[in-house]
Amino acid sequence: MKTIGILTGGGDCPGLNGAIRAVVRSGSQQGYRAIGIRNGWQGLIDGDIEDLTDSSVYGIISRGGTILGTSRTDPLKNPAHFRKIQDTLEKYAIDALVVLGGNGTLSAAHEVATSGVPLIGIPKTIDNDIPETDMSIGFDTAVSIVTDAIDRLYTTAESHHRIMVVQVMGREAGWIALTAGIAGGADEILIPEVHFTMDDVCQDLKVQFASGKKFSIVVIAEGTPLETVCDISVPECNRDECGHEKFVGVGNLLGSELERRLGIETRVTNLGHVQRGGSPTSFDRVLATRFGVAAVEQIRTGNFGTMVALQGAHVVTVPLSSIAYRVKPVEPDLYAVAKKTMGGS
Ligand code: F6P
Repeated sequence: MKTIGILTGGGDCPGLNGAIRAVVRSGSQQGYRAIGIRNGWQGLIDGDIEDLTDSSVYGIISRGGTILGTSRTDPLKNPAHFRKIQDTLEKYAIDALVVLGGNGTLSAAHEVATSGVPLIGIPKTIDNDIPETDMSIGFDTAVSIVTDAIDRLYTTAESHHRIMVVQVMGREAGWIALTAGIAGGADEILIPEVHFTMDDVCQDLKVQFASGKKFSIVVIAEGTPLETVCDISVPECNRDECGHEKFVGVGNLLGSELERRLGIETRVTNLGHVQRGGSPTSFDRVLATRFGVAAVEQIRTGNFGTMVALQGAHVVTVPLSSIAYRVKPVEPDLYAVAKKTMGGS
């Protein structure tokens, strides 16, 4: 009997458990045994594993997070770690790996696959910034959470005639801000991909207020450079173990700047990790299930070094080399749709 090892790396997101369940269940139907690797690459380094069976994944499709745990451990940082990974694969006779991850985890997966490990990637990140796939697991749930939050902020903004700044996740791309901003009827959407100045933003809002609007919703992606909003840059110490910037709150800076320049009372909400928590939407559960089943199919046919992806209505595979170290920016057409419905200049 062949063995599939499954790991989830990077930030968690709703939908991971649905994919784990699909790999285990569709694998067992085809005679594969499944092993869960705890806490991402760290579990492969430490040999921290658990058996996964049809019954151990019972009921997890509706649960957020990941039953396997996750970490941001980079397996390539230390050559000794890489040897330990190979030892674990040998020790537990793991024939193929399924790696669920975002850009960082899947870039590492590409390197591990290139070194000869039979591996399939599954794209997950609420940021939706993995190339070659229309959607990654978790994005739909995050957009639905943010849209609900904007709806709630709308009524309080309206009552107090305030500007509400909503800071959402989106490290390098503004997919959540743009999509939820459109869905929630935001008046301004500020994202890393689109250059703007504070003069532009204030001008837009002035036009909206002059035309009778009495409140405003401004959505900003956390990765929007601070320098755009005011004269601050990120101190080197403010980075996590992967060198990622720990976001200090561009939303707060934006809120203060808008209040100072426009003289309109402003409040700021940073939605933070609420966007990654809780149960997945039905879309994410189905997407995760389709990806999990497709990953096992790639193992069966030996189509290794690939990532399963959603393109249009179809699940396809793309080489990991085509997505590694790359980020998918927002669709300019989608941004144009937002611009046409935001009002302002
Ligand atoms: O990478 C996905 C993401 O959700 C980013 O949008 C966010 O900046 C980051 O994870 C937060 O990571 P952590 O949970 O490690 O603070």
